[in-house]
Amino acid sequence: MCGIVGYVGDKTAVDILLEGLTSLEYRGYDSSGVALNIDGKVELFKAQGKLQNLRNIVQNNYTQISKSTIGIGHIRWATHGVPSIANAHPHTCNCGKVAIVHNGIIENFKELKVKLEAQGCTFRSQTDTETVAHLVASKFAQTHDLTEAVRLATLEIEGAYALAVIHQDVKNTIVATRRNAPLVIGFGEGENFVASDIPALIQYTKKAMYLDDNQIVTLTPNSAKVIDIEKNEIPLKVETLPWEPVALSKMGYKHFMLKEIHEQPDIVRNVLSGKLRTMDEPISLDEVTLDKAKLKDLNRIQIVACGTSLHAAMVGKYIIEDFCGIPVEVEASSEYIYRKTITDENTLVIGVSQSGETADTITAIRLAKKKGSHILIVTNRPDSTMAREADSLVPVNAGIEVSVAATKSYMAQLISFYLLAIYMAEVKGSISKEELMDLKHELIVLPQKIDKILTHKEDIQKIARKFSSFKDFIFVARGINFPTALEGALKLKEISYINATGYSAGELKHGPIAMLDDSMPVLAILMKGKVYEKILSNAEEAKARNARMIALTDSDDQKLDELFENIIRIPEISEILSPALAIVPLQLLAYYIAEFLGKDVDQPRNLAKSVTVE
Ligand code: F6R
Repeated sequence: MCGIVGYVGDKTAVDILLEGLTSLEYRGYDSSGVALNIDGKVELFKAQGKLQNLRNIVQNNYTQISKSTIGIGHIRWATHGVPSIANAHPHTCNCGKVAIVHNGIIENFKELKVKLEAQGCTFRSQTDTETVAHLVASKFAQTHDLTEAVRLATLEIEGAYALAVIHQDVKNTIVATRRNAPLVIGFGEGENFVASDIPALIQYTKKAMYLDDNQIVTLTPNSAKVIDIEKNEIPLKVETLPWEPVALSKMGYKHFMLKEIHEQPDIVRNVLSGKLRTMDEPISLDEVTLDKAKLKDLNRIQIVACGTSLHAAMVGKYIIEDFCGIPVEVEASSEYIYRKTITDENTLVIGVSQSGETADTITAIRLAKKKGSHILIVTNRPDSTMAREADSLVPVNAGIEVSVAATKSYMAQLISFYLLAIYMAEVKGSISKEELMDLKHELIVLPQKIDKILTHKEDIQKIARKFSSFKDFIFVARGINFPTALEGALKLKEISYINATGYSAGELKHGPIAMLDDSMPVLAILMKGKVYEKILSNAEEAKARNARMIALTDSDDQKLDELFENIIRIPEISEILSPALAIVPLQLLAYYIAEFLGKDVDQPRNLAKSVTVE
């Protein structure tokens, strides 16, 4: 969603704000803006479209703008009101003295707007955020205290927000607060920062504090004071961040997505490290606190997630059921929260989320928690809202993922599910020693197999080029690779905008087959195992309708050469682990098609990396 950043200190604020917004660009990119105090006056600079447009505006006025050492900035992903300069943040009140940036949604903005208009406020945008600017201004008129004005305003607003506010008459001060949206404070020497996420401040400081819901921080260059909504002072809890700025560089790759695909062998090693120690030792998951006796008695698991994380959850269902014999239901968080969900204290509820900030998944786990379920979170962000609300945690250790299309975090989620399923199976004693040894061995050699695929990526690049002009694409698979088909299709559609769909191969003849002719590529995922022959027959049916057939397989079966126009061969692997290998060529295929079409691979249109609104 949107990203916010604030700086107060002795350096040129706009440089720090623009750098910060660049590293938050993954959160939204349809417009941006900064508010600065220049020579005692609050001035706004805004642009529609990519951040580069704002940079150009700043460049044209740099001599004037660079004088300011305090400011707030915003990168927007539109929710209320089209992407336009009028709707871009920061927003101001009538007199222009208050400037405000906001991430989230003010749910009661219509009621507030009616009240504020009656008091004489003139609205200039279609956003929900502008109400907060007017509200803070009206509270400031009563109190002449910016922190108090923000506190009083938050008592009246409903919804989710991370806010940063400056006021022309309150020199060198930023007030920021949050409720159900992420916000982190960074502490420097003679300077302080606030941002939606760590990448915006990591190159300046590693000392940070995550603000909790309803806390308000008042920052000046040399002070930071946090209070809660009842005005109690909160002691500063300063953490040292483990992040390295180098993680945010493309390291010579053309796009972050390609770099992140290439990081996957190391990611697998990272996730296994410390958890899978030796073949004989049980898997160790230190942050899983679910009592072992309770775990043995579990009779149901529910997994909630969205998008790519939902696909990892679907693979998770398959392996937990296979290894542990516990029934698992998987549901999109956005569906889970709006029906009579049957959850209780005997159900383990697992939330899966790269960001740990996805609003629907947060709501789903909160709902389940209220009903007494143990909440286990699989996330790439141990510092996120979900992680902080979890009873148990499986940190996936993929490092920061910049590209909007998730790749390495999906891989890390899959490996985490293998570890979790083996951990549970070891506690339950539901899997034989030999099977365990084989699985652990296969996990250890997986990085080499991924490396092998990456070494031959040019083969996939050629296929990508050949099929890049097609308007539609079908991915088919069965069993444990059905989610791989869905994920392959999602990767392709989100970065190339090609209409790609994943189907269970057995479902083809129940409808989708009607679409097949020589304008439709069909990519069949044919990993050796239980369903190999079945998918082969489904592929025959598609070929008989003249579809353009592509195979992704670990088989050297000669029959495939007649049936398929192109074959992507990958190293042999057991069927149960095959999703972790089969996804890699599909990520590369999507990447090369999008790159060949000249699309904005790392920042596809209409998407945001962190979806913090329901
Ligand atoms: C797709 C993608 C999205 C996310 C989804 C959930 O490449 O990244 O589908 O997977 O928005 O986000 P998280 O995992 O952060 O909860």
